[in-house]
Amino acid sequence: MTCGHRPCQTASDVSRRHAASVNVPWLMSNLVLMRTSPTWAKGLARMLLEVPLPRRWAHVQGVAARARSIAPTLGPDAALLEAAAWLHDIGYLPELAGTGLHQLDGARYLRDAEHAESMLCRLVAHHSCAVIEAEERGLAEILCREFRSAPLALASALTFCDMTTSPDGKPVHVEWRLAEIHNRYGSEHLVSRSIHRATPMILDAVDQLHAKAAPTASSRCNA
Ligand SMILES: [Fe+2]
Repeated sequence: MTCGHRPCQTASDVSRRHAASVNVPWLMSNLVLMRTSPTWAKGLARMLLEVPLPRRWAHVQGVAARARSIAPTLGPDAALLEAAAWLHDIGYLPELAGTGLHQLDGARYLRDAEHAESMLCRLVAHHSCAVIEAEERGLAEILCREFRSAPLALASALTFCDMTTSPDGKPVHVEWRLAEIHNRYGSEHLVSRSIHRATPMILDAVDQLHAKAAPTASSRCNA
């Protein structure tokens, strides 16, 4: 393929040349690293959400900003947490919504279509106490069989970021956020029931983050 006088490389051309001339494990490990980076995650989230779900896109931008704000407490996991923050809600996209459990649908897409790193998929699959909503939907066994839960500290950090960010991406008190979800769905809705059951764990996650990162993260009373 050429463009004017100079040969023009496509992404697949470059990929083929590398696969032929350098060792494949090196290439694969770099591909995995790339598919865990916040830059990659932001680009993918933007591509999926910005136009069809602009409010959801505003929300994930706020959640990612939260993740960056607590980066000092996370050490080497900070980039992974930010990547998960960007991608945690892609399962709301109608095209990806297979089961209706957005955490599972998003994680499946990342695993099957994007070949994302396992821990990133696990974080997305279980974010904000997903297993409780999965129980309500009869999907808990499937969720846990396909994706192991993430380590508690990381999972709690993502829950903190999600549950202290409004649907428009603004920092809010966790209590405000919980009330907003109940108002949005109505008290009888499955999501409201799930959030009601998950509330003690969500509050624990926020408290844990606050205790760990008082100088950098906003507390329940200062969100
Ligand atoms: Fe969210």
